[in-house]
Amino acid sequence: MDKIKELTDRLDMTRIPRHVAIIMDGNGRWARERMRGRSEGHAEGVNSVHNITRHASDLGIKHLTLYAFSTENWNRPPQEVETLMYLIGWAIRKETPELLANNVHIRLLGEIDRLPEQVRKDLEAGRDATAACDGLNLNLCLSYSSRWEITRAVRRIAEDVLDGRLSAGGIDEKTIASRLSTEDLPDPDLLIRTGGEHRVSNFLLWQIAYSELYFTPILWPDFGQEAFLEALVDYQSRERRFGKTSDQVKEENPN
Ligand code: FPP
Repeated sequence: MDKIKELTDRLDMTRIPRHVAIIMDGNGRWARERMRGRSEGHAEGVNSVHNITRHASDLGIKHLTLYAFSTENWNRPPQEVETLMYLIGWAIRKETPELLANNVHIRLLGEIDRLPEQVRKDLEAGRDATAACDGLNLNLCLSYSSRWEITRAVRRIAEDVLDGRLSAGGIDEKTIASRLSTEDLPDPDLLIRTGGEHRVSNFLLWQIAYSELYFTPILWPDFGQEAFLEALVDYQSRERRFGKTSDQVKEENPN
C-alpha cells in the first residue's frame, strides 16, 4: 500500500495535536551532500516550509511554530545571514496570497526589530494581511531564543512589581507565561527536530515542559508529507501523562 495512504489511515483525526513546533535543521548538510552551496539548502528548506504548512493546515492543526532564525544564528558568516534574510523576505512576499487564500494567520515571534528593515516590513505586511484569518496560526520565530524571551519576561515582571501593578507574591506560572512571545498560544503538544541532532537549542524551553519530543535524522529539505505523518502517528502512539500515573490517565480517558 502507498505509504502516505497507510499513514493517513493510521492517523486518528480526533487526536490531531493542536500545536506542533519544529526545529528545522539540516539545510546545510543537505546542500553539502549534493556539492551545492548552503544557500541552496536554505532555499530548498523554504519549499519544505511551504509543504509542511499546507499539510498542517489540511490536517486541522491549529498552531504550527517554526524556528526560522535563532538569536545564535546571527553569529553565522555574514553572507549566510544575508541569504537567509533575503530568503525569508522573499518567501513571505511570495507565499502571503496563498496563505491568505488558505485562511492561514502569520504571526511573528522574536526580536523582529533586529531584522533588516525591508525583511521586517515584508514580514509585518504578511502578518497584517492575514490578521483576520482564523485557520492555522503559522508562528514564525525569528531572531528568537528562549533565554532571550524568558529574560525579557523577567524584566517585564520586575517593572510591574516596581510600578506596583503586581506583588512579588502574586507571581505564578500564568504571570510568566503571559509575558512570553507565545502569551496566548497553548503549549506545543509535539516538538519535532529534523536533521539528526538530539537537542532543543534554546527553543521554547518554558513551553515544552510537557511536549512530546520527536527527533528524526531526515534533513529539513527532505522532510515532506510522509515524514510529517510518521511523526504524527508516533505522537499518537504515546501516552501523555502530565505527571500522573498511567492508571489515572486511563480512568480519565476511557476511550
Ligand atoms: C538549519 O539548517 C536551518 C536554519 C538555520 C534556517 C531555517 C530557515 C529556513 C528553512 C527558511 C525559513 C523561511 C521562512 C519563510 C520561515 P542548518 O543550516 O543548521 O543545517 P546544517 O545543520 O546541516 O548545517
